[in-house]
Amino acid sequence: MSAPSTLPSNRSQMRKHFRSLRNSLSQTQQLDASERILVQINALTQYRNANVIACYLAQDGEIDLELLIQDAWQQGKTLCLPVLHPFCKGHLVFVKYQQNSKMVTNRFGIPEPKLNVADIVPISLLDIVFTPLVAFDDSAQRLGMGGGFYDRTLAPMIRNEISPQVYGVAHDCQRVDEGLVNEKWDIPMQKIITPSSIFNAS
Ligand SMILES: Nc1ncnc2c1ncn2[C@@H]1O[C@H](COP(=O)(O)OP(=O)(O)OP(=O)(O)O)[C@@H](O)[C@H]1O
Ligand SMILES: [Mg+2]
Repeated sequence: MSAPSTLPSNRSQMRKHFRSLRNSLSQTQQLDASERILVQINALTQYRNANVIACYLAQDGEIDLELLIQDAWQQGKTLCLPVLHPFCKGHLVFVKYQQNSKMVTNRFGIPEPKLNVADIVPISLLDIVFTPLVAFDDSAQRLGMGGGFYDRTLAPMIRNEISPQVYGVAHDCQRVDEGLVNEKWDIPMQKIITPSSIFNAS
């Protein structure tokens, strides 16, 4: 018989647990994490070779990619942010984000570039998508916030129609020892990157 788990067992309890962990990090820990995640990402050939990347603006204790955004701009990469799809409920579009982009706040209170059709970047043109997550395991499985937004938007990956690299980024405290149970709709991550480690898909 295995030892009793101290971790919450279902997805919604897990989300609560790991969101509270990341929200309790101090400002100093958050700053340190964002500096170290930049070093980790910069060491990846895939990032150095990427021309078009998508990332996110941190919310709810997520690891902050602001330094990565600055770096990507400096390197002349095209940087995109997710924007709620205007017609397709539960889907995202990726929109170019520049220093002078006009921002609006979406219905979740998250800032996003004001949608201008000319700035939409098709997923097939993205080299890397950095996704936020709530929890992950050693084989790079991801548990998100529960909206299924990334899963729906990147579902063509499962059908091999598109092939961006999808890397989850997280604090070390978001790692689940015991493994996550994936659902058939969960899009695969090739890697999970934390300030101290990189976990590859098995
Ligand atoms: N490709 C899809 N088509 C239709 N529904 C989907 C798809 N992917 C996910 N869903 C639905 O979205 C819901 C939430 O999915 P899930 O619990 O995996 O969210 P998540 O990965 O944590 O969220 P997010 O991607 O927004 O961070 C599920 O109940 C599922 O039915
Ligand atoms: Mg999912």
